[in-house]
Amino acid sequence: MAFPPGFLDELRSRVSLSGLVARRVKLERRGREFAGLCPFHNEKTPSFYVVDDKNFFHCFGCGAHGDVIGFVMRADHLDFVEAVEKLAAEAGLPVPKPTAAAREQARRQKTLLETLEAAAAFYEARLWSPVGAPARDYLFGRGLDADTIRRFRLGLAPDQRHGLRRALAPEHGEALLTEAGLLHRPADGEPYDYFRNRIMFPIGDRAGRVIAFGGRVFGPDATRANQPKYLNSPESPVFRKGRVLYGWAAARLGSRPGPERAAGREAIVVEGYMDVIALHQAGFATAVAPLGTALGEDQLQELWRLGPEPILCFDGDEAGRRAALRVLHRALPLLRPGFSLRFAALPAGEDPDSLLRAGGPAALAELLAAARPLADMLWEAEVAGAARDTPERLARIQASLREHVQRIADPRVRFEFEALYRRRCRPAPAARAARRAAQPAVVSEGPPPPPPSPARKQREILFCLLLNFPSLIGEVAEEFAALDLPEAELDKLRREILEIDTLRPGLEASALRQHLSTRGFAAIVDALLSPSVDLGFLIRRSGMPAARAEWAHVIGMLTGGRWSILAEASSHLIRDVSTASWDDFLAARERALQQSASDDESI
Ligand code: UTP
Ligand code: MN
Repeated sequence: MAFPPGFLDELRSRVSLSGLVARRVKLERRGREFAGLCPFHNEKTPSFYVVDDKNFFHCFGCGAHGDVIGFVMRADHLDFVEAVEKLAAEAGLPVPKPTAAAREQARRQKTLLETLEAAAAFYEARLWSPVGAPARDYLFGRGLDADTIRRFRLGLAPDQRHGLRRALAPEHGEALLTEAGLLHRPADGEPYDYFRNRIMFPIGDRAGRVIAFGGRVFGPDATRANQPKYLNSPESPVFRKGRVLYGWAAARLGSRPGPERAAGREAIVVEGYMDVIALHQAGFATAVAPLGTALGEDQLQELWRLGPEPILCFDGDEAGRRAALRVLHRALPLLRPGFSLRFAALPAGEDPDSLLRAGGPAALAELLAAARPLADMLWEAEVAGAARDTPERLARIQASLREHVQRIADPRVRFEFEALYRRRCRPAPAARAARRAAQPAVVSEGPPPPPPSPARKQREILFCLLLNFPSLIGEVAEEFAALDLPEAELDKLRREILEIDTLRPGLEASALRQHLSTRGFAAIVDALLSPSVDLGFLIRRSGMPAARAEWAHVIGMLTGGRWSILAEASSHLIRDVSTASWDDFLAARERALQQSASDDESI
């Protein structure tokens, strides 16, 4: 629905974005901005910024970005029009009257929805009536309890040609029943019920309103030929199959932070209706399923509204693997920082429903915990088993990987895939690894010196970065100058570095060192560039972006989470190493350095 020009601007100007955000997130003023913990992903240090006078928010962690309307859409899981209506109501701004066509459209939708709701109630009542006994037995036999059956509003389409028609046509009319997909109207002859003698699964929209049905055969019918096991409603003005996920509204509730739930629970994608319901009943409250088709782009986006890393369950056989790869390739162009997919492979012959019944929730939990990241799936599909023992073979593998990686639209994500695969393409040769392993560990004399305090080491790393990358000095001069430096010799060195950068900006690293040693800093510069501080291959080889990332990281930790001005430029690199703690950071960097060292040796 189009709003008249000016209305949205008026709305945006009336609502204070920071006021709106502050209802959910504790915000701290930082100059002209506000910062806080991002409400859209899990984090421990604030990377969510609100700029009131420009009316936008931005999260450097997960990339969430938008204005007041966008915030309400994300925070309350509303579509654009719903968000506008909600904000307008709060701001006391009357929403302009829609056009006649839009009004008619809205009226028809409402009526369609009412008809569909009436049908759901009709089917539900049949299931719980005496004629529903065999259907209920079937559902109980499949392990569902009455609460679950009611919660998902399962029903029964009676075994009659005109059961629903007779019940609903007087009030809703045959035209609407047909438009809703509940009646089938043959070219010549009387309309009859589309669903007959089936267990009915109402399909909901985001708000949980019934927009369609799936119907499953049961009983003697189930063995009759030419009966599809599941029949779905045809598409209608309110039902677009490719956009809907069965169970989405329930999963949204399940994915919300709350006292009874661990943070960050991700959507679990299964294949069928029964899987979704069985999972919910077993406490996996975020299960959803597409409607008998492969996951499409719209459905992937719906999944990411529930959580950043949905887990897709696939059959463990070759067909299942191929289906998983199809979804993977569809997802590549859509990947964003933090948003990806994980893949869980089912044991042969099981679906999640049967797995739950055989092995209980523990079996499923184990399977989900072992879900593999998308990057590993792609790597394995392209590389596993392929010979990499000659330059030509290696080059071919790299070319095919590159072809896939190029399809990733987001440059930050693409960069990380490239870096990861480049590292993996160069395994240390076995002989070298063996030689390294055979070398005796260096034994030190006497007790080791006490480790320097983390903060001191962090400060040294900052200096080391500047000594290696003098062009960074200009970018960070202000925060570098403001840094607390208890060590007198570092403080002196800083003054010298800042001064020389002002007088002679653009010095090469070697020229800078030369200059510093002529000014009496030779010893401390050597110490800062010694292996105990130096950043080694990784930073030097990856160049300025990596140096910026490390700078932003380290200064962030030194200053208790205050973000460096470089945070934005390097947010994609920062994600690499969780900001959780200094120890985590060092460990992750150590791993990266080791990896990098073995890469260098094997070149
Ligand atoms: P399955 O045949 O694997 O069924 O179809 P299921 O979900 O395990 O069903 P139960 O456990 O026997 O009840 C998986 C999904 O594929 C779609 C449905 O969405 C189903 O849930 N499907 C299957 C159809 O649309 N039509 C069919 O004839 C069969
Ligand atoms: Mn099944």
